[in-house]
Amino acid sequence: MPDAMKTVLVTGAAGGIGTSLRTLLKGVYGELRLTDRTVPNDLAAGEIFERADLTDLAMVERLCAGVDGIIHLGGRSVEDSWEEIHPANIVGTYNLYEAARRQGVKRVIFASTNHVVGFYRRTRRIDNQVQPRPDGRYGVSKAYGEALAAMYADKYGVASLCIRIGNYGERPIDKRRLSMWLSPRDFVQLARIGLEHPDIHFEIVYGSSHCERAWWDNATAERLGYRPLDAAEDHAAPALAATAAQPEGRIAELFIGGMFCEMEFVGDPDRIR
Ligand SMILES: NC(=O)c1ccc[n+]([C@@H]2O[C@H](COP(=O)([O-])OP(=O)(O)OC[C@H]3O[C@@H](n4cnc5c(N)ncnc54)[C@H](O)[C@@H]3O)[C@@H](O)[C@H]2O)c1
Repeated sequence: MPDAMKTVLVTGAAGGIGTSLRTLLKGVYGELRLTDRTVPNDLAAGEIFERADLTDLAMVERLCAGVDGIIHLGGRSVEDSWEEIHPANIVGTYNLYEAARRQGVKRVIFASTNHVVGFYRRTRRIDNQVQPRPDGRYGVSKAYGEALAAMYADKYGVASLCIRIGNYGERPIDKRRLSMWLSPRDFVQLARIGLEHPDIHFEIVYGSSHCERAWWDNATAERLGYRPLDAAEDHAAPALAATAAQPEGRIAELFIGGMFCEMEFVGDPDRIR
């Protein structure tokens, strides 16, 4: 399969994940094509970058020409107004899949989020078959992205791995992140499984390193060969100290989505089972 992945396009290449991914994927595929609406300020000689807005379908389609696989990171990455979420994550993700279909792209890695299942209680262990329970407009937009991924796989044969990323970073920064931290090299492992594993059609996995306190069962990722290299508990002491110093809110600490659940919350937590 790596032979079939000659050209890989990374959207959102100027963002936090995109910036580290550019280094970690160097030399793995024949051509790494990068795009974002913002020009990265640290582009190295030899890196191929084209500025584009995901809302411009014609431009996104041009970027997909000759591409075998896409790592779709571009879009609004936190909770925001509908005016921000809609163009980037609803229109933008549609354009990405439609351009991929038109250009015969084989694989898409969709950067989904734990906020798709943000309103599940932390006392429960969920798998990847549960209904979405998004904790905001951002989570809804990512649930929509997963639905697009399913439809484009089933109807048009554009295969996708949706990775519900917990929290990406060098280390888990607080107690909540001990349950969902994803190290850069473990993200690369998951993305490469998505691009290279022969059996991918439409799959959802959780994007976390080895987390003993995980609120989810990541059996699908394991079945596909994922073996996380990094363990959240190795960083437990500073993470727990950070939360002791700054505890989560009353609603945040009940649910997977944490503070995204607490934002604008006027509901009844007892009704969220
Ligand atoms: N960082 C995490 O822990 C985390 C967790 C869950 C999901 N994710 C998802 O992973 C992806 C990458 O996350 P990140 O932390 O690097 O986010 P980020 O905000 O740092 O990067 C997103 C990039 O997308 C670009 N972008 C936004 N709107 C665009 C548009 N209309 N057209 C073109 N480019 C546009 C931005 O310029 C930015 O560089 C996002 O889709 C995010 O939702 C990240």
